[in-house]
Amino acid sequence: MRRCVIFDLDGTLTQSEEGIFNCVRYAAEKLGLPEIEGDMLRRFVGPPLKYSFMHELGLDEERADAAVAYYRERYGEKGLFENRVYPGIRTLLATLKKHGDWVAVATGKPQRPSERILEHFGLRKWIDRIVGPDNSADAGKTELVRAALPEDYDPENAYMVGDRMFDIDGGHGAGIRSIGVGYGYGTEEELRSSGCDVYAATVEALLSFLCPESETQRGFFLSMEGLDGAGKSTQIRLLTDALDRYGYSVVHSREPGGCMISEKIREIILDRANEGMTAETEALLYAASRAQHVHDVIVPHLQAGRLLLSDRYIDSSVAYQGGGRELGVSTVMAINDHAIHGLYPDVTVFLDLPHKTALERVYRAGEPDRMEIEGDSFHARVEAAYREMIRLHPERFVVVDATKTPEDMGELIAAGVLGKLDAMERAAMEKDNG
Ligand code: TYD
Repeated sequence: MRRCVIFDLDGTLTQSEEGIFNCVRYAAEKLGLPEIEGDMLRRFVGPPLKYSFMHELGLDEERADAAVAYYRERYGEKGLFENRVYPGIRTLLATLKKHGDWVAVATGKPQRPSERILEHFGLRKWIDRIVGPDNSADAGKTELVRAALPEDYDPENAYMVGDRMFDIDGGHGAGIRSIGVGYGYGTEEELRSSGCDVYAATVEALLSFLCPESETQRGFFLSMEGLDGAGKSTQIRLLTDALDRYGYSVVHSREPGGCMISEKIREIILDRANEGMTAETEALLYAASRAQHVHDVIVPHLQAGRLLLSDRYIDSSVAYQGGGRELGVSTVMAINDHAIHGLYPDVTVFLDLPHKTALERVYRAGEPDRMEIEGDSFHARVEAAYREMIRLHPERFVVVDATKTPEDMGELIAAGVLGKLDAMERAAMEKDNG
């Protein structure tokens, strides 16, 4: 009989304090209560809301009901998405599904918002059932856990995973085992004294308890491309924020450079004194820098299951040396064969900016480097070669109009990248399931 793993939501899969805190504050303000401090706010995460409003703030039942109503008013619209997936959770859920487990969520948060959160953060695909109280009832955790279990299950091989004593009690009440996790909102003492069968301090510890044999899943490789001046740095920062929220473990790197040897090659390439460098030398140096970067940085991080985000990669060579220096797209691809051994990014973000606008921005910003001092026709060819790459590999690219505001670009990029990552996670899951 397949194993069952039931998760609590807040404090176990997602770190929901931002949204919860904002909504508790909102409810308190609406009821004319004094401002609530951090410590008190933390106690609202996990237990049923009405319980907290009554026991933590001392409200009578009627006022507590009103507080819950205000809370939900803001939560449905905004609080829901003021949330973060704990790093490692995506891998954990994917690994459990690969193992063939029944995976469910039993939460004190009502059903509909719970579904919306799990859907929004792309976790829904790994979860067989979501159970929360409907709006009318304050169901206890035990009933929720029971409802989250399938018809047939082995109580010896079924676990409730949660961060508070309510979860531990709920698992035991339903006759299954309980695992307490230490990275959420409860303390180790609370979890141990409520009698958890297993205590896991981190998501990694939970994974190695539940799936000791599992191999690390390969991470994702993303690159950011565009003409100088298109706003790569800002977009890398904004995309990193979005990816963090979704629970991806992001590592940054850049080309040319990214590791010691490649950074030394970078200095040679970009030095304005190296006027006599031939186009071939330049292309080979970029490729040499890339070969070391792939070996020292990109491959190890992917093997460790992280998401590597590189500021430029092979498309820059195709664009600048293939197009700009007129070596041709196929020659530059051939030069790079030995550097990348077929390793293309899973997703490449292209910041689409007309070359004239890009050049104006670079000159306005200050001292241009050896590549940037090239003229207008050079940059026109760079732009054209980028377009050729997008035409050749449309499935890999997220193309965004870089004349928009940084915030608008950030939203479009996050949506595009997260959509592609979700599709890849789904494809991996379907492959595992035969
Ligand atoms: P970048 O680090 O983006 O420049 P900056 O730090 O000034 O913002 O890239 C350095 C330059 O190298 C840039 O003009 C593009 C160029 N380049 C190539 O010509 N070929 C390549 O393969 C790469 C990776 C970069």
